[in-house]
Amino acid sequence: MLKGKKIVIGVTGSIAAYKAAILVRLLIKQGAEVQVVMTPSSKEFITPLTLSTLSGRPVLCDFFNSGSGEWHSHVELGLWADAMIVAPATAATIGKMANGIADNLLVTTYLSMKAPVFIAPAMDLDMFAHPSTQSNLQVLRGYGNHIIEPAAGELASHLCGKGRMEEPENIVQVLHDFFLAGNSLAGKHILITAGPTYEKIDPVRFIGNYSSGKMGFALAGECARRGADVTLVAGPVSLATPHPAIKRIDVESAEDMYKASVDAFPSCDAAILCAAVADYRPATCAEKKIKRTGEGMTIELEANKDIAAALGKEKREGQHLVGFALETNDGELNAREKLAKKNLDFIVLNSLADEGAGFAHDTNKVSIISQEGITEYPLKSKLEVARDIVSYLSRLLLIAVMLLLPSSLMAMGEELNAQVTLNRDKVQSADSEVFEQLKDGITQFLNERKWTASTYEEEERINCTFNFVVESYSPDGSFTCSLMVQATRPVYGSTYNTTTFKYEDKAITFSYQPYDRLDFNEDNLDNNLTAVLAFYAYMIIGFDMDSMGDLGGSEWLNKALNIANNAQTLGDAGWRAASSENNRYAIINDYMNGALEPVRKLMYKYHRFGLDMMYKNVSGGRKAIFDSMKMLKQAYDDRSLAYFPKLFLEYKNDELLNIYSQGSIKERMEVQKIVTTIDASLSTSWEKIADNHDDNQL
Ligand code: CTP
Repeated sequence: MLKGKKIVIGVTGSIAAYKAAILVRLLIKQGAEVQVVMTPSSKEFITPLTLSTLSGRPVLCDFFNSGSGEWHSHVELGLWADAMIVAPATAATIGKMANGIADNLLVTTYLSMKAPVFIAPAMDLDMFAHPSTQSNLQVLRGYGNHIIEPAAGELASHLCGKGRMEEPENIVQVLHDFFLAGNSLAGKHILITAGPTYEKIDPVRFIGNYSSGKMGFALAGECARRGADVTLVAGPVSLATPHPAIKRIDVESAEDMYKASVDAFPSCDAAILCAAVADYRPATCAEKKIKRTGEGMTIELEANKDIAAALGKEKREGQHLVGFALETNDGELNAREKLAKKNLDFIVLNSLADEGAGFAHDTNKVSIISQEGITEYPLKSKLEVARDIVSYLSRLLLIAVMLLLPSSLMAMGEELNAQVTLNRDKVQSADSEVFEQLKDGITQFLNERKWTASTYEEEERINCTFNFVVESYSPDGSFTCSLMVQATRPVYGSTYNTTTFKYEDKAITFSYQPYDRLDFNEDNLDNNLTAVLAFYAYMIIGFDMDSMGDLGGSEWLNKALNIANNAQTLGDAGWRAASSENNRYAIINDYMNGALEPVRKLMYKYHRFGLDMMYKNVSGGRKAIFDSMKMLKQAYDDRSLAYFPKLFLEYKNDELLNIYSQGSIKERMEVQKIVTTIDASLSTSWEKIADNHDDNQL
């Protein structure tokens, strides 16, 4: 992904400057071209010779080459680069970048930069927490820069806190993910409406609203940066077009916006309707300026057309429609009504009750609501919110492409590679044919169903085992079983397997008639068995997606939650989800609970930043896994009765033991402490490795 990419690395005067050397080395190793630009004070911490040797290019520091008088063109660098990373970024450089104080080559390069900029702060905890640093970072975020949050840990001052520059491996990963998303909308045509509309009362007056258009313009910029062909229909706003490739149509009234949108939509793959369209306009517009009479006056209003609803009616298969709902009360309820009424694929809800959200701010706090459920995001800059919304849309567009693919390629969507075993030793029954049928039926159900529609390479499929132990069976077709579900996945780009899921379900009852195909209707859980299987399939996919990206599994986990929710309400007539304390309902409900977000995030740290790096022999792998253990402890401390930290350890314990048996004593002691605090029953296995150590760090 980084092969051939041109990266400018800006290095500033921080103890963490040594990490820049590792960053350069990693990028070069991945095939990137790297140009290092240093601030004068960074030379006190690392020599230009080190960085020029590693990057294979002379390092730039001054405006001119003092020998030849040659000018080092920051303007050319700004055009040359595909990305700029400032790492480490000190408080001083962050301040200069936020305020345009261009007194060194690094800041002038930043100001000339046409490519996306990533900033990895490094400083002492108090400096990082200081309001001036935080407000400068906020300004930089608002300009669309990507801030790579520093980690918490021991700092150069020997104090502990947040301020340590993110590890180079993780920065490379951020960049990798960014470029991966970069072309996600290439070849797509997207219509965006933005800003307010003005409805004329007379030649000098209008009815309008406070919409600034910033959110819609941020969305247009983001779609264009990801390669989409964007048509931006803008109401009256004073904003510059955010990307040269955008086709902008300026309109004033709701009627003009309606016409421009209806014209553009047929050739579009998606439309994002972000404009605050006036619902009403004056029934007549006075030809001349209305004079004051001293009396009161009434303006008769008539309804404007609803653009979203009109496009919703026209929407073809494969086209996607996104709406916004700005609500003052009953947000979710109103938004869901609009979702259905306007035939939208998802709706972005922002509530005026949330501080920092809505028209008047550069920030926004949104939730995305679709048929699948609700995803809530924290308060972010409008540019960052735009990234979240566009990522959500790109995923849907990818799914749409997969659905339209010919059936020969559809196999790529079959993520699960399920093996089913059916142990019926305890049941003395002669009906071996029934059991064979059941086994085949389940295998077929799991392997032939397209659980998600994203692309998977064959060797990337998730290997699952569904092991049913039959406790009782009666010839009328009713079964009682326990089920052991385990899923492992060959990690991307590597060849080893890692456990993504392991759970024993102790009480399952269902009816099964041989020769009946196992079908599943999401809205109607009339078949207990298929509901259970679908539930676990979604759980496994959700876990897996979380391990590949930050909370990427929400969509699938929400599906699992819906199944469990439905089963709860069905009670005995349906799938008995609530029959024990640590049942399926409790697991999924717990896992999706916001307080356990650290547990979900740790999946990513554990798998991508940890196991994968260890496998590739890149340093920092075990450290990432160690960090994920600390996140687990945090989740446990916050909600120690929650089931998840325990469950996570249960299915990762063997892996952890294996990893830390080769770790240093200190690492092992700390992980052992975390593990045994959360689940004392695991202490015996850890004590076994207590004396067998070697202090090398991976
Ligand atoms: N919208 C539109 N055309 C209109 C009105 C609204 O395209 N004439 C779109 C908006 O851009 C937004 C969504 O519909 O994406 C919801 O807008 P909102 O004003 O909240 O919806 P209304 O249906 O007008 O409901 P309300 O009564 O809350 O104003």
